[in-house]
Amino acid sequence: MRNWPFISVLALALTMPGCASVRTALSPAPAKSAATGAKPGAAAPWMDTALSPDARAELLEAQMTLDEKISLVHGVMATPLTPEQTIPAGALPGAGYVPGIPRVGIPALKETDAGLGVAYVMGLRRDGATALPSGLATAASWDRAVAYAGGAMIGQEAWRKGFNVMLAGGVDLERDPRGGRNFEYLGEDPLLAGTLAGEAISGIQAQHVVSTVKHFALNDQETGRQYLNVKIAPAAAHESDLLAFELAIESGHPGSVMCSYNRVNGPYACGNNWLLNKVLKTEWKYPGWVMSDWGAVHGTDAALAGLDQESGDQLDQEVYFGAPLLAAAKRDPVYAARLDNMVHRVLCSMFAAGLFDHPPVKTAIDFEADGKVARKVADEGIVLLSNPRNLLPLSATARRIAVIGGHADIGVISGGGSSQVAPKGGPVATIPLGGNTPLESFMHQAMYMPSSPLEAIRARAPNAEVAYNNGAYPAAAADLARRSDVAIVFATKWMGEGSDTPDLTLPNGQDSLINAVATANPNTIVVLETGGPVLMPWLKNAGAVIEAWFPGARGGEAIANVLFGAVNPSGHLPVTFPAALSQLPDPVLKGRDLPEGRPFDVSYREGADVGYRWFARRKLKPLFPFGYGLSYTSFAFGGLQVEGGKTVRATFTVTNTGQRAGSAVPQVYLTTGPAGEGERLLGWSRVDLAPGETKTVTVSTDPRLLANWNAAAQDWQIAGGRYAVAVGTSAQTPKLTSEADVAAQALEP
Ligand code: BGC
Repeated sequence: MRNWPFISVLALALTMPGCASVRTALSPAPAKSAATGAKPGAAAPWMDTALSPDARAELLEAQMTLDEKISLVHGVMATPLTPEQTIPAGALPGAGYVPGIPRVGIPALKETDAGLGVAYVMGLRRDGATALPSGLATAASWDRAVAYAGGAMIGQEAWRKGFNVMLAGGVDLERDPRGGRNFEYLGEDPLLAGTLAGEAISGIQAQHVVSTVKHFALNDQETGRQYLNVKIAPAAAHESDLLAFELAIESGHPGSVMCSYNRVNGPYACGNNWLLNKVLKTEWKYPGWVMSDWGAVHGTDAALAGLDQESGDQLDQEVYFGAPLLAAAKRDPVYAARLDNMVHRVLCSMFAAGLFDHPPVKTAIDFEADGKVARKVADEGIVLLSNPRNLLPLSATARRIAVIGGHADIGVISGGGSSQVAPKGGPVATIPLGGNTPLESFMHQAMYMPSSPLEAIRARAPNAEVAYNNGAYPAAAADLARRSDVAIVFATKWMGEGSDTPDLTLPNGQDSLINAVATANPNTIVVLETGGPVLMPWLKNAGAVIEAWFPGARGGEAIANVLFGAVNPSGHLPVTFPAALSQLPDPVLKGRDLPEGRPFDVSYREGADVGYRWFARRKLKPLFPFGYGLSYTSFAFGGLQVEGGKTVRATFTVTNTGQRAGSAVPQVYLTTGPAGEGERLLGWSRVDLAPGETKTVTVSTDPRLLANWNAAAQDWQIAGGRYAVAVGTSAQTPKLTSEADVAAQALEP
């Protein structure tokens, strides 16, 4: 563990025993323990909670037969893929199932998607789960406590439904705003994404549910995800996507890492010796187990490359970790040793997360309490993008309010794919978006959560006349807007797993709708429910704009809270909103123009300069920069002092200079370093302030953020010299600047 300044993480690391004794992937199994012959059950020595998870795993492994070991390292997708298929007895319908071994008391692994709530699989089951807002909303909160609370809530629901593994922890960086799964992830910056993923994972695992971190690695687009080959220099990878994983792993201690579908510098990620054995298990000393993504294994030799468990094995060409691995282990001591290590890793994580000691108990869910957690994430994640005339917050005195479009009468949209959560009683509407195959059609559906913004607005403005128009005809919507004091237009952009969007427009003519309404009434507020950044050709005409992302189970209420000022917005963008496609490293998404199934290489031009760093390098002015977000109050910053030495530490004051209580999110950036390092987020703080209040804030920097990865020496190295630092309200809005000397050093691994 490196020094990490956040108390909640430290506290957790101290209270949750991990799998500390790390054996490298190919090292031989330990000598058999003296526990031979012990009986399972309470008396079994591995059930002694005074022992470390490692010691317990070792005692248990020693009792297992070869067949039992094999059965622990592969599992099925526990979803009938055709009407004839059934799921194994004892399995829960969900993403995955690895049978237990009752003879020695090993519980089955019952796995559910995903990071936004209990999805079972693709929201097929409708017995109800609470949907968090999208990952981007959590990231926009910049709030560690909110990320932890969201994880704890969904982990608790998973446990109460009988699951003990959650396939959560998505932390792939947003390299391209068209990426179909960006909404599940936590944005474009490794520090922000890795920190919040670590919190969410900790929250889940505190419920005795193993969390993954996924998809390892560089699974940054959906187009060609099964066969594209990401070509990236090890240094660029370490300083970007891998750093997000590294931070999430060291603070969250996920029991498992899910490797991804794509290839990285040649080999598939799930059979990639460099990624799994070298980076993950040797450099980072990761002690847990690597599970494959579903259908991502291409051979038994993936075991030697560091894969520990084959998931959804009926989706692979063969059950590579079944009979073929058994035969290899009988024949070849290297495979036999590897199998022992694979089993050790699985068992150790199971012990560490409490799967043996605190098995799930099916119990009722308190949807009211859990809904509040989801609403809080949405409250904090909504970003006020534009409010030039202070049209927001709306006063309760507005007499006639027009609510237009976005199905705001019934609910809020959610993102699609394996992370799709279905609320209790099912979604209030499911809109088919079409596809060329049954699977595509199944994946492409827009589900609406039953949290109507229209009703929430009516509840906040009981004396107003609130009328709804569905926005199908811009002229009719404009008529209603003209007759109203204020018009609120809802615009949606669905995104989902398995496909990227071709561009950054709002679909279905919604730009024309907004233009027509804003022309009819300048008091037009645009509420965006999108999977990520969109272009806003109507921005100058809009009276105000908020980005509500996919706002989850109680999204309608959260939107109304912000519109009426019950919540003072404090969300800040975790991604850059480009002004045009031409600003992106690749104006045409890689592989988009190729026939389906044709393998291709992706050499991301931006290297480690993902998102705002690319914009800084190219001196581009985005529509809205990373880190940006307005408030109903105003903040002033002062007294910056930057201390150098081994790292940098910035101390400054933040004052609420407005009339309302609010939360500031000052961000500390490296603007230049002696080795030419460009813009990098070094840290941030969320500061709650009453009107007139001032607080002093100190932000310490993880030295890796000042360093570059040296591929030859295999370590992080800081060039000694003067580092320029800015405190800003976004990556492009510095408020205070200073400099400090930092010592040249190679960081200890
Ligand atoms: C997705 C994973 C998911 C798994 C199981 C895969 O297609 O990429 O994120 O956890 O399915 O549903």
